[in-house]
Amino acid sequence: MLSKAENERLTQVGPGTPAGELLRRYWYPIAGLAELDAEPVKSLRLLGEDLVLYRDKSGNLGLIDQACPHRRVSMEYGIPEEEGLRCPYHGWLFDHTGRCTETPAEPWNSTFKDKIHTKAYPVQTLGGLVFAYLGPAPAPQLPRYDLLVWDNCIRHIGLTMLPCNYLQAMENSLDPVHVEWLHGYYMDYVWSRKGVVNSERFSGRHKKIGFTRFEHGIIKRRVVEGNTENDDPWKVGHPIIFPQILRVGGAGGYCFQYRVPVDDTHTLHVIYNA
Ligand code: FES
Repeated sequence: MLSKAENERLTQVGPGTPAGELLRRYWYPIAGLAELDAEPVKSLRLLGEDLVLYRDKSGNLGLIDQACPHRRVSMEYGIPEEEGLRCPYHGWLFDHTGRCTETPAEPWNSTFKDKIHTKAYPVQTLGGLVFAYLGPAPAPQLPRYDLLVWDNCIRHIGLTMLPCNYLQAMENSLDPVHVEWLHGYYMDYVWSRKGVVNSERFSGRHKKIGFTRFEHGIIKRRVVEGNTENDDPWKVGHPIIFPQILRVGGAGGYCFQYRVPVDDTHTLHVIYNA
């Protein structure tokens, strides 16, 4: 059993916390690229920091502090311009590096804007997702994991907010047996109460479970009734990639589940099917 102090050390994700500093060394998916077609400005929280993701009229993506450095208005209401996002209150304009490029109420020859900078983080796109990096420079390369770069496949992306710490979701990934009961037996019960026969339930009792450490995390394995160690659930298993990715799948399709640490009590669950 972890002590309270050990638990906090692993689960607190804000700036300056031990886990928060470690987690900042990784890229996180924060949005589907298609979301910005409908709404070019999206407010979000990542690792305890309130930020705004935007796409300007030139197609540049930016991720900047949610609060304008002038009078703290939320840049969630900002206006995408040719280059950057303009604060709705007094019109200050910020580019994707956080540089202030216009302060319209100043005299035309003022250099005041050169002193102003807002917090900004790098973003990259890959496989239909927007990824952000909040750690120290230089940013590591964005990993080009297989599902993100496959050709000739259909991708489906879903995002939802979970009211729990990211580590709770990751622990769940390393718990093979819950699938038999929660996704199988319990779902049968729920469907039966609605009068529906659930033909796609997870079935079969676990005969064996196993865990293999590897360079990037742990591979979870299972053998259920009707399977052997030559079947994929044991032979290939499900890689859990530190710190926040689960990869599952088989003949019917493959999927990443990203558990993005939003703050200490919320996790953005990104399900990425290919
Ligand atoms: S509050 Fe943003 S420009 Fe004044």
